Amino acid sequence: MATPQTDAAYTEPQTRDDIPGWFFGLDQAAFTHLLSTQSATGVTGDVLELGCYLGRSTVLIGDHLRPGERLTVCDLFDSDAGDAANAAEMAMSYRRTLTRTAFESNYLAFHQELPEIIQAPTSVLADGRIPAGSCRFVHVDASHLYEHVAGDIAVARAALRPDGVIALDDYRSEHTPGVSAAVWEAVFTGGLKPVMLTPMKFYGTWGDLDAARAVLTLRDWQAAGYAVDEDVIAGNRVLRLNNPDRSSAPTPASRRLALDLLPPIATRATRKVLRTLRDRRTTREA
Ligand SMILES: C[S@@+](CC[C@H](N)C(=O)[O-])C[C@H]1O[C@@H](n2cnc3c(N)ncnc32)[C@H](O)[C@@H]1O
Repeated sequence: MATPQTDAAYTEPQTRDDIPGWFFGLDQAAFTHLLSTQSATGVTGDVLELGCYLGRSTVLIGDHLRPGERLTVCDLFDSDAGDAANAAEMAMSYRRTLTRTAFESNYLAFHQELPEIIQAPTSVLADGRIPAGSCRFVHVDASHLYEHVAGDIAVARAALRPDGVIALDDYRSEHTPGVSAAVWEAVFTGGLKPVMLTPMKFYGTWGDLDAARAVLTLRDWQAAGYAVDEDVIAGNRVLRLNNPDRSSAPTPASRRLALDLLPPIATRATRKVLRTLRDRRTTREA
């Protein structure tokens, strides 16, 4: 295993939570559930992460790679940003701590092999170097500027297989209106369907909404202590997941959803959908 050079200030992480970053328990649980359920139900494919910083989210994604699946990450690391606004964002949030070497060391503290690393602005991926339809999951967490995020969403859309899922970070943070604009534009003009929302991330698909929803609700989140709610956006039901202490007061919709999610009914219904999807997939591939 290659050991990257590290600077004197670097401390090797002992646990995944020792890696600095913005990837916390709720979305860790959502990624873990999504990626492991995809694997369990026969959804295979590569994974792409735009914006990995020091590897906090990348290391968890790497836990779920199966033989033959490739993880690609794209980040500027220590390179210059292509424009002044992006350079300002980099200076404010990442420059003091971020080096590619530190990312590599963190990743190798938990995995045998590095992912494929593209050290460049994510805009380089518009050249189609990620094979179309190759990915089961794309995590977009790079620049917060509207034009960049709109480009990242286009890259993700091309890269995802029809039943793949995109996670978009910071879709509703106060300091990231450009991300919100790009995400909701993709929803209302680009066919992106919201499936699940957490305070930090938007999970969506350009494929079968019911199938993606079935995957995400296969876990009884309420029994696991999470707050589950439901909204309807432009006629589509959207799951809202939160930590229990951040939950809003129960609404009629959330009470209905709570009943929906109670096992064994929900579990049985969801399993049925997944079985049907798996059968459909097997028939198509036969
Ligand atoms: C919020 S951090 C990623 C956090 C990481 N996913 C985690 O969960 O810990 C954003 C990352 O995007 C990178 N970045 C910002 N603008 C970029 C661009 N235009 N192209 C590629 N990477 C960019 C930054 O270098 C930084 O590492």
